[in-house]
Amino acid sequence: MEKQKGPFSVFVTRHIHEPALEKIRAVADEVEIWPLESAPPKSVLIDRASRVDGILCLLTDPMDAEVIAASTGKFKVISQMAVGFDNIDLQSATARRIPVGNTPGVLTETTADMAWALLMAVARRVVEADRQVRQGIWRPWGPHVLTGIDVFGATLGIIGMGRIGQAVARRSKGFNMNVLYTDIQRQPEVEAELGLRFVGLDELLEKSDFISLHSYLSAENYHMIGKAQFEKMKPTAILINTARGGLIDPDALTTALQQGQIAAAGLDVFEPEPIPADHPLLSLENVVIAPHIASASVQTRLRMALMAAENLIAGLHGLRLPYCANPAVYKD
Ligand code: DGY
Repeated sequence: MEKQKGPFSVFVTRHIHEPALEKIRAVADEVEIWPLESAPPKSVLIDRASRVDGILCLLTDPMDAEVIAASTGKFKVISQMAVGFDNIDLQSATARRIPVGNTPGVLTETTADMAWALLMAVARRVVEADRQVRQGIWRPWGPHVLTGIDVFGATLGIIGMGRIGQAVARRSKGFNMNVLYTDIQRQPEVEAELGLRFVGLDELLEKSDFISLHSYLSAENYHMIGKAQFEKMKPTAILINTARGGLIDPDALTTALQQGQIAAAGLDVFEPEPIPADHPLLSLENVVIAPHIASASVQTRLRMALMAAENLIAGLHGLRLPYCANPAVYKD
């Protein structure tokens, strides 16, 4: 449906894709775009929340209770260009009846690809090998040179069987893996379709060769992987995290990797982001780390931007957001 241009003012916290901005400009007469690559300071978010009709934000923007409290009666919508929304105080937004949009579905396959890219890179020591070759170290073919861990036929433990967890499980079929999963809710249909086995967290940690995290971050699962959980894992286990850094206690992870409690880790997320340049983890060969790029394909990022624009525009017009993280705002 074509929406009429209204006297809307909007703050977009980064230069998102032009086709998405065009859609926003078609309905809003004031569109301010934060010009930097880094997040606007909180003072800017507070100021804009007090003046505009809607904010399109990214997962690095602290849309906390203070920012949301600054919004006035005219503020209509927060639209996040991400599926996760742990940077947004959803409770405060819901209490003020501000709908919060997110971008589920469109980044599922791309994120699952990245989980697999990390898993393969870590298992077969691809980054370490590349580093050596670039340093002029081409070790001659030898029985023990850069030997990794077999993926084919291994046991994969997936924590969180939502869309992305399922996409990761689907890919494991080509590797003939035995797949265990745990979640707050059992999913018999998915189990049957993909041949998965539901287990408790402890059993998953004890039996898996590869453990991949795919849960939303919440107050309940913050640091769900800590010292006690590393103690349960196999010394040959490889941990993959493309979900949220806060799911893992970073000190416990560093110790586990340093002491050989687990074999290696592939991380796309960390707590905090960015990881400090002098963090001990960065000196370990058994870690592959990327700067939160799991959804970063050209096609997916465009789809996310368009979806975020769609949510923003619906919110400006007082319409139900097509992808809403707090549908409770629509209850009487
Ligand atoms: C998300 O959308 O929550 C992802 O972390 C972005 O890559």
